[in-house]
Amino acid sequence: MKLKKTPMRFQRLKGTRDILPEEIGKWQAAEAVIHQVMARFGFSEIRTPIFEETELFARGIGQLTDIVSKEMYTFADRGDKSLTLRPELTAGVVRAYIENNLGKKQPVNKLYYLGPTFRQENPQAGRLRQFHQFGAEIFGSPDPAADVEAITLSIGIYRAFQLDRFVVKLNSVGDAVCREPYKNTLREYLRPRLNHLCQTCQQRFEKNPLRILDCKEESCRGETAAAPKLFESLCADCSRHFARVRELLTAAGITYDLDFRLVRGLDYYTRTAYEIVSDQLGAQDALCGGGRYDLLVEELGGAPTPAVGFAAGVERLMMVLEKIAWQPALKPAPAVFMAPLGEAATAWAVQIAQQLRLQGLAVEMDLLSRGLKAQLREANRQQARFAVIVGDNELQNQHATVRDLPNSLQSEVAFADLISYLQQSMQSRGS
Ligand code: HAM
Repeated sequence: MKLKKTPMRFQRLKGTRDILPEEIGKWQAAEAVIHQVMARFGFSEIRTPIFEETELFARGIGQLTDIVSKEMYTFADRGDKSLTLRPELTAGVVRAYIENNLGKKQPVNKLYYLGPTFRQENPQAGRLRQFHQFGAEIFGSPDPAADVEAITLSIGIYRAFQLDRFVVKLNSVGDAVCREPYKNTLREYLRPRLNHLCQTCQQRFEKNPLRILDCKEESCRGETAAAPKLFESLCADCSRHFARVRELLTAAGITYDLDFRLVRGLDYYTRTAYEIVSDQLGAQDALCGGGRYDLLVEELGGAPTPAVGFAAGVERLMMVLEKIAWQPALKPAPAVFMAPLGEAATAWAVQIAQQLRLQGLAVEMDLLSRGLKAQLREANRQQARFAVIVGDNELQNQHATVRDLPNSLQSEVAFADLISYLQQSMQSRGS
């Protein structure tokens, strides 16, 4: 007798989503736009593993950060090695950059990525446990022009979707020279106010006072409203760098808001920090965030290498695209609709269609053995440029009837000349 298992139904885990066939078209179209804009800016794609050694993230992102201290999916493999599902991609890309000696191959490396990312946060609108990030990293340039290249790239991607309702928030978090003295200044300012700060901020006071500035609690924000600003306490080098970043942003036509509260939730930043926020997202309003991290490559065992980059949430992008009812560009109309009449003509048409497609033209074929009228109606519906009509007569005298559909013009073209005729006609129409 066969033993029957008791059926059990499963549900997706909290904070995860199924991307269903009905939405996948938009995802693929959005990803295509991202790939195109990245290529236009001269970035090459890199794909790194979804899991890495836990230590890479602990060192890279910082032990005290929320991400490392409470949000990572960490597990032991069978050899008892501690592994972690990537909570962001920068650390893995830096590891790959060092391990593959990319810095030796060219002076400046411009890399981008797109893929799943994991953080065990409390799920809410725009905040998931498995989400997707796209982002870019520039290695090898300390120049403010590189910071501006990263910022203009992220803006360029949103603009490519016709999005313009967003705000760029900009700050400088200084470097090893000026940040520590600033932290002391900030602590001195906050010390008499400590009792009015929330529990989390009180805990952050000693080790991570900068994060007190970006606390969302109204009372904490009130206490820090007049706090000394890091971008006004920068050392000479950081100050020069920041001024030049601002100058170049203005030259690029980019408006931004200076935001002294923007300190980012990852520890690796030096100098420029920025975020792009949208009022169409709700509480989780950051479309993307990033900045400069000049010390990370060295901290992870590489040669000292300045770097700057950003990452963006794909789900958040999809949310704002939904709000503006973004429609991906439709598939291009066919250049040629093959309209054969009868079996012999179909055999000929299959062969011509294949040749034209291999030459790079978009070609459609009638697949229902329809009559001429129905085929031409279908060709018009698909907005094809030309219909190639071939029946017994045409086969006999080795000429096809080529109909220029938008202009309702018709010509006879010898079989031998047909492919070059169609190619040239499409070229002269700029397709
Ligand atoms: P991040 O600010 O932690 O930066 O994340 C970047 C973006 O990922 C956020 O602005 C948001 O759009 C999206 N995101 C983050 N967490 C979630 C979540 N739980 N659910 C949905 N979307 C989320 C980084 O990850 C840095 N690696 C950025 C960077 C690259 N800095 C320099 N290079």
